[in-house]
Amino acid sequence: MIQVAVNGYGTIGKRVADAVRAQPDMEVVGVAKTRPNFEAETAVDKGYPLYAAIEDRIELFDDAGIDLAGTVDELVAEADIVVDACPSGIGADNVAMYREHDTPALLQGGEDADAADASFNARSNYDTVEGADVVRVVSCNTTGLSRLVKPLEEAYGVEKVRATLVRRGGDPAQTGRGPINDILPNPVGLPSHHGPDVNTIFPDLDIDTLGLKVPATLMHMHSINVTLEDRPSADAVRDLLERESRTFVIPEHLDLDGAGAIKEYAMDRGRPRADVWENCIWGESVTMEDDDLYLFQAIHQESDVVPENVDAIRAVLGTDDQASSIETTNDAMGVGL
Ligand SMILES: NC(=O)c1ccc[n+]([C@@H]2O[C@H](COP(=O)([O-])OP(=O)(O)OC[C@H]3O[C@@H](n4cnc5c(N)ncnc54)[C@H](OP(=O)(O)O)[C@@H]3O)[C@@H](O)[C@H]2O)c1
Repeated sequence: MIQVAVNGYGTIGKRVADAVRAQPDMEVVGVAKTRPNFEAETAVDKGYPLYAAIEDRIELFDDAGIDLAGTVDELVAEADIVVDACPSGIGADNVAMYREHDTPALLQGGEDADAADASFNARSNYDTVEGADVVRVVSCNTTGLSRLVKPLEEAYGVEKVRATLVRRGGDPAQTGRGPINDILPNPVGLPSHHGPDVNTIFPDLDIDTLGLKVPATLMHMHSINVTLEDRPSADAVRDLLERESRTFVIPEHLDLDGAGAIKEYAMDRGRPRADVWENCIWGESVTMEDDDLYLFQAIHQESDVVPENVDAIRAVLGTDDQASSIETTNDAMGVGL
């Protein structure tokens, strides 16, 4: 069993811990927190050994009556690999600790690409990261774009991608984020950082991205135009995307008219935390005009990177090949709407 540590047990970290625990070939050796809040308490309730991320704060856990298994240094020493899901910037600061222990590490998409040796998306470049010390699982939006670009590139060739990303202002628990009542071009200048980020996975791809932020917390929404080298029918593109395990082509009869309905569907399906691990592409939006493909897709920012982290563990350690890892991860988590 691969011993996995999770440093940073927040939105992404707690989901990754649960996804790792569900795998047949991995176990969670422990999770690290800086303070004894509700997530620390639930980590202990779930049976995850809890480690102090900051030594000076051990007393806070003692005062709250929450038992610790040790410090993050000890956790990293014990693990075969660390998934770092700390807030943006802290992951990069932690790299020295991981290197000191010679423990491979996964960073998240909030870190700069140059904080890691390589960037990762399971469908697109699984085979490139084996043996790397530090790998960055790209952000939710870049994951969503990569999952779409790769099959299109394989099947038809891609001349150019233009993507407008309508981004949620914050996650549901992020009360300090916004806008509350506005629609912001963000950034105002072009391109948004997403295009260059997609280029860390597809170095030669011609892609322009524009970003906006809106007062929503549920999901991001992408308005996509891809100029293809071939001219497939819209039905053929729909079929192609339906065959992908992490893209869900929403059938018209489900009447999922937006992110709210998709999240409701996830709850009705019994998804943990109402997570939607798949790109949600509206089948009716898939349109071809000459060689231009158009579509809308919704991306659940809190969860689409979770199966990618699981695959990245096997890819870095070289314990499984791409197809088998993706299948194992999907089966264990229940990915596939
Ligand atoms: N949320 C998203 O939509 C999303 C999507 C894709 C990728 N990402 C990326 O994933 C990373 C994590 O984001 P997130 O949304 O999960 O953030 P988050 O919800 O704020 O969780 C991060 C957790 O790390 C803990 N932490 C803070 N300082 C720490 C330290 N020094 N050592 C260990 N733990 C520490 C915090 O918990 P305590 O202080 O309570 O311990 C916090 O709950 C970022 O790079 C982000 O860009 C986020």
